[in-house]
Amino acid sequence: MLRDAGFEVVEAHDGDHACDLVGADSFDLVLTDLKMGATDGIQVLRHAKEAAPLTEVIVMTAYGTIESAVEAIRLGAHDYIQKPFTEQELLVKVHKALERRRLAGEVSLLAAEFRERYRFENIIGRSGAIRDVLGRIVRIAPTDATALITGESGTGKELVAKAIHANSRRDDRPFVTVNCAAISETLLESELFGHVRGAFTGAVSARRGLFEEADGGTFFFDEVAETSPSFQAKLLRAIQEGEIRRLGDNRPLRIDVRIIAATNQDLPLAIAERRFRQDLYYRLNVARFILPPLRERREDIALLTDHFLEKYCRKMARRVTLAEGVLDYLMEYHFSGNVRELENMIEQGVALAYDGLIHREDVIPTDGMIGTNASRSRLMQDVVDEAEAAAIQAALREVDGNKERAAEMLGLSPTTLWRKMKRLNIEVRV
Ligand SMILES: Nc1ncnc2c1ncn2[C@@H]1O[C@H](COP(=O)(O)OP(=O)(O)OP(=O)(O)O)[C@@H](O)[C@H]1O
Ligand SMILES: [Mg+2]
Repeated sequence: MLRDAGFEVVEAHDGDHACDLVGADSFDLVLTDLKMGATDGIQVLRHAKEAAPLTEVIVMTAYGTIESAVEAIRLGAHDYIQKPFTEQELLVKVHKALERRRLAGEVSLLAAEFRERYRFENIIGRSGAIRDVLGRIVRIAPTDATALITGESGTGKELVAKAIHANSRRDDRPFVTVNCAAISETLLESELFGHVRGAFTGAVSARRGLFEEADGGTFFFDEVAETSPSFQAKLLRAIQEGEIRRLGDNRPLRIDVRIIAATNQDLPLAIAERRFRQDLYYRLNVARFILPPLRERREDIALLTDHFLEKYCRKMARRVTLAEGVLDYLMEYHFSGNVRELENMIEQGVALAYDGLIHREDVIPTDGMIGTNASRSRLMQDVVDEAEAAAIQAALREVDGNKERAAEMLGLSPTTLWRKMKRLNIEVRV
């Protein structure tokens, strides 16, 4: 049928064969049955999309298996066609799919722009979990849906919140963060809602609240579980009604903000313990982002390490790399502080490296050094050298490599500094 219509057609006699074919050659369109024995149509779809994401796929389904067709579409199929079908029906769908395939040139062009505009470069990671997060950002950011981001400390919750904002239509409006754990609740209330003059002792003038400041933009409630249930009730009201009242004022003010909330707490547990209101939880938990701990996506460690190395080398104008074995050490490390801990380790490593290499001792967090075998077996001289080198380098950086001024800062004579630099192998890079 398709050949008669002028298409070039390659046939596969089963799912395995089809997978081989799509892996070996590139096709504009794959037309596949769903139920086909060992390797089914979903697998063929996966293979085809993996081999060439622009390949369009149409799945053929039998009457009554609509769920699998829906699943196929979710996985990237272009369309489905229900059996039995007429030649006309098939040709219409094939032409449509190919039309879309022809537009693919534009799609990939758009994709480049997309990446640029969607500011994802700062979210590093190739693990399934991170891809999933990026995919969700793309889908959810343009909507105004409330988002709830959960994950251990240092997993990137704030980073994701910012990416959602940056990729939304609100990106030219404010992104306002409030860390609920950092200020007292009374203060938090007046900060958020603002107040009129004389609303409370000390309210000498009227003040706009952060909600008003954020109008048109995004409001990020960090550590939202650190608030009391009575505050949560006020927050819920503001979100639900889309309006607030300044303290001491009865007039409602309309606000247009998108809410994103984050917590490292287990909210269902907090609800069970009556520390968190269930109704607020439901209201926030519209789009959920769950950020996995770094130790559960170790495949991202090397990428993140590279990223932070580059970042801190640029920042400190240094050129250093990891000594042998350091990456292996990091790959095994527990990272209870997640990405932030890794970032701090690399920052410290870049600062401490003095022979162009970051050694294992340079990245071990200070509190982890006490009592570890690594520190016990270190020579006192090495510890002193390291500290001296770090101080010298810091001074040199501060004065842009001017040795006289660095010596002065360190309280050394220029000759002593010169001797130390020679022994420690420190060069001034300009
Ligand atoms: N996937 C990532 N790629 C690059 N940098 C990341 C990634 N995840 C986190 N970071 C970096 O790690 C640090 C911590 O991230 P962030 O502040 O977003 O974490 P958090 O989950 O809000 O932590 P906390 O609960 O302690 O507030 C930041 O400097 C951030 O840029
Ligand atoms: Mg945070």
